Amino acid sequence: METMIEHNGMLAVLYIVASVLFILSLGGLSHPETSRRGNWFGIIGMALAVGATFFHPQVTPQSAGVLIAMLVLGGAIGSVVAAKIAMTAMPQLVAGFHSFVGLAAVCEGINSYVAGMGLAGAEQVIHNTEVFIGVFIGAITFTGSVVAFGKLQGIVRSKPLLLPGRHLINLLAALASLYCGTLFFTAADAAQGMTPLLVMTGFAFFLGWHLVMCIGGADMPVVVSMLNSYSGWAAAATGFLLNNDLLIITGALVGSSGAILSYIMCKAMNRSLISVIFGGFGAQEGKAAAPGAARAGEVVAISVEEVSNLLKEARSVVVIPGYGMAVARAQHPIKEIADKLRTRNANVRFAIHPVAGRLPGHMNVLLAEADVPYDIVMEMDEINPDFPDTDVALVIGANDIVNPGALEDPSSPIYGMPVLETWKAKTTVVLKRSMAAGYAGVDNPLFYKENTRMLFGDAKKSVDAILAQLQ
Ligand code: TAP
Repeated sequence: METMIEHNGMLAVLYIVASVLFILSLGGLSHPETSRRGNWFGIIGMALAVGATFFHPQVTPQSAGVLIAMLVLGGAIGSVVAAKIAMTAMPQLVAGFHSFVGLAAVCEGINSYVAGMGLAGAEQVIHNTEVFIGVFIGAITFTGSVVAFGKLQGIVRSKPLLLPGRHLINLLAALASLYCGTLFFTAADAAQGMTPLLVMTGFAFFLGWHLVMCIGGADMPVVVSMLNSYSGWAAAATGFLLNNDLLIITGALVGSSGAILSYIMCKAMNRSLISVIFGGFGAQEGKAAAPGAARAGEVVAISVEEVSNLLKEARSVVVIPGYGMAVARAQHPIKEIADKLRTRNANVRFAIHPVAGRLPGHMNVLLAEADVPYDIVMEMDEINPDFPDTDVALVIGANDIVNPGALEDPSSPIYGMPVLETWKAKTTVVLKRSMAAGYAGVDNPLFYKENTRMLFGDAKKSVDAILAQLQ
């Protein structure tokens, strides 16, 4: 008895410490300078949280053996995946992990319903509510995340699936789930309640699949962040089921931070959060892709030598990194170019679009890895007013985030998304391999502007060559 109380006390202390560490971790991750510390807080908190499980009163020496085996197996798989994954494939990895959380919530909910069959009265109602909500959110998260993974990996087409009457279909699936809920809550016994619970799970699986299928490629970052939020709420619901305070706190932290991030990203892309939640509400069939619509005028190519001459003469340079910089891994030589120009007293800054690359903060991470000082890394709103006073805007593997069509062409699928207005600089030099479109699949009128020059080739090779010219 005494050992049990000691174990419970230890468990509570470890849970509180882990919760505080998770909150400090989120605080740390909010700024590049403190993000390493934030990561460490998260790692230590998670180690404590997992370790604390062994103090749970229901853990016996036998089940501890199973736990250790699962920890070793899961840890080994996770380590291999994390070590092998390319930075550019991180969003699909995150989507894949969310699907596990969703599936775990479904399995745990159904298992907990079976385990809680002896309950009665208010206790039973509360338990059943937790089961129903946990399974519903978990099932949507699972199939939604699987589709998001498929779209980001290129297995599922990224064009939105716009079935006629799709909102009615979603509404009917939601109403059918609700009807299953009434059957579930009024079931005479648990065995009778299982059928509506499983049927509702099927409808929720369908809803998750359909809601994300309806969303176009350009909105996927917000969807991944929304699914992150859903997975948090699913984990919190599981925490209620298991009476696990740490899981409730962690789930709420993930759920609310994911929701806030989605809101920030929607604002950055001028998308309506409601439209993303309800599967592309307001998206029109013709808007999915319009490649070539803006193909007007001549493209002027430039040589490495000419670019280095432009840079040598420039007093003010803004570097705009995009997904192509991540693919080429060109951040290190770009940093060296910035150093060289700064020693010549040029004002060199980096401009970060909130959805540059393929995951939030993607460019910040790469620039931090290359030791680019934080004080020359600017947000979009800070740098946009400075483009008219910029001599050279150097676009490294970016495309959608510098597309003027987003501001000028109402027929463009990315119309309304704020972009980096590089065309206002004296000269814009774009480094990319071809005239291929970016993630959103739309042509870019920037490439045809009079003051734009194209340096074709792999960004790393081009940047290395420019650096060699500047030496
Ligand atoms: P994109 O519009 O995707 O353009 C990247 C460009 O890089 C491509 O046009 C490609 O052209 C070029 N490129 C690829 N590999 C290259 C290489 N080795 N060397 C030189 N250039 C290379 O990227 P962006 O401007 O960063 O915009 C991001 C897009 O991704 C947005 O549409 C955004 O909504 C979406 N998205 C963002 C996120 C987040 S959260 N950041 C997540 C998912 C999706 P070439 O093939 O001609 O070289």
